[in-house]
Amino acid sequence: MKKFSSKDTPLSLYIHLPWCEKQCPYCDFNIDTNKRDGEEESLVEAILTDLDASKKYILDRKFISVYFGGGTPSLVKSKNIEKILLKLLNNQMLENDCEISFEFNPKEVSLDYVTDLSNMGVNRASIGIQSFDEDTLKSLERNHNAHDALKALDIIAGVSSIKTSIDLIYGVMNQTPLSLEKDINIFCSQNISHLSMYQLTIEPNTIFYKKELKIPKDTEIEAMELIATNLLNKSGFYQYEVSSWAKDHSFSRHNINYWMYGDFLGLGPGAHSKITTENSIKRMIKLKKVSSYIKNPSKVSEQEISSNSYDIDLAMNLLRLKNGVSFDELRKRKIYLSETFRKKLQDGIENNLLEKNGIKATDIGYKFLNDTVNIFS
Ligand SMILES: C[S@@+](CC[C@H](N)C(=O)[O-])C[C@H]1O[C@@H](n2cnc3c(N)ncnc32)[C@H](O)[C@@H]1O
Ligand code: SF4
Repeated sequence: MKKFSSKDTPLSLYIHLPWCEKQCPYCDFNIDTNKRDGEEESLVEAILTDLDASKKYILDRKFISVYFGGGTPSLVKSKNIEKILLKLLNNQMLENDCEISFEFNPKEVSLDYVTDLSNMGVNRASIGIQSFDEDTLKSLERNHNAHDALKALDIIAGVSSIKTSIDLIYGVMNQTPLSLEKDINIFCSQNISHLSMYQLTIEPNTIFYKKELKIPKDTEIEAMELIATNLLNKSGFYQYEVSSWAKDHSFSRHNINYWMYGDFLGLGPGAHSKITTENSIKRMIKLKKVSSYIKNPSKVSEQEISSNSYDIDLAMNLLRLKNGVSFDELRKRKIYLSETFRKKLQDGIENNLLEKNGIKATDIGYKFLNDTVNIFS
């Protein structure tokens, strides 16, 4: 029996551009702070070679979204971004209404650069603002200040074809509920329709992990979440995923495809892919080091999702969506629900962690999402 259907699984493209000006002490993304002469051009060539070699994963699908992430994509020259986008366009690899997102650090947002990208088809910007508060930005050791953040938003607002999203972080050392309230108020006063709001996580292998930090207490974090929710709701923003808020249905199509268990092809150092075939789902990771990827762009470490891990892999994604996924949508996308998955779903419903209509956490199930997801382990 064919369990899966690649042709019915929407496909997104992720392109990892790894360079950063400096290493932020909280970040555990695959980044590189030492770009060598000519390396940018070599990486772009390697990405194009990798794209050519990926036909077996793409089949006859077109990309519904493209996401340039990092690292700091905005450190890459626009003419090099153009090489990638031209190849995608000339080979008719993009759906007509393809969402093309690009991550910026506030310091690199200039009108020339943003206009260049917009002329190439980029239609969504994600800006790593983190906070508008000088003390919070200092705690995070960011290389930009509040003025840079506001200036970046001003510039991007002048390019009408680009929809904007910003990233904010809360739960930072010395940050108070009041300072987060100010951040949210500034955000809501801008003409922006999407917010990614992350709680600071102290990841192993980061500089912060080795320090003793005075992170706000759990009660303060809860107060921050409550204040943010109330202010955002009042301004017409609704949470649609654990860290994502949108108004006027301006959801991130790219990220929704991840959470709806769509496929994605990842190009660039350390990029992840998920690819569906008729009988299996594979997750793959490219070589992480920039120079290794350039030498061998198609080399991956790969892991097939076994029938044992399928249930939790699926639940971990679908349940991040606040409104879950209806059975109709699951049928439309030909998402396979195993017997064991259906049984666990019943357990979750009986324990009031899951709702009956579709794959959706109840309010309490969403509050304790890890426990809810673990039903499927
Ligand atoms: C890949 S980063 C890239 C964005 C861009 N380089 C920047 O820093 O502005 C995407 C986002 O992840 C979030 N992030 C990274 N590390 C985090 C952490 N340890 N805790 C919470 N959020 C984090 C930040 O909000 C950041 O903007
Ligand atoms: S947070 Fe952004 S700028 Fe800082 S190191 Fe990570 S990817 Fe680079």
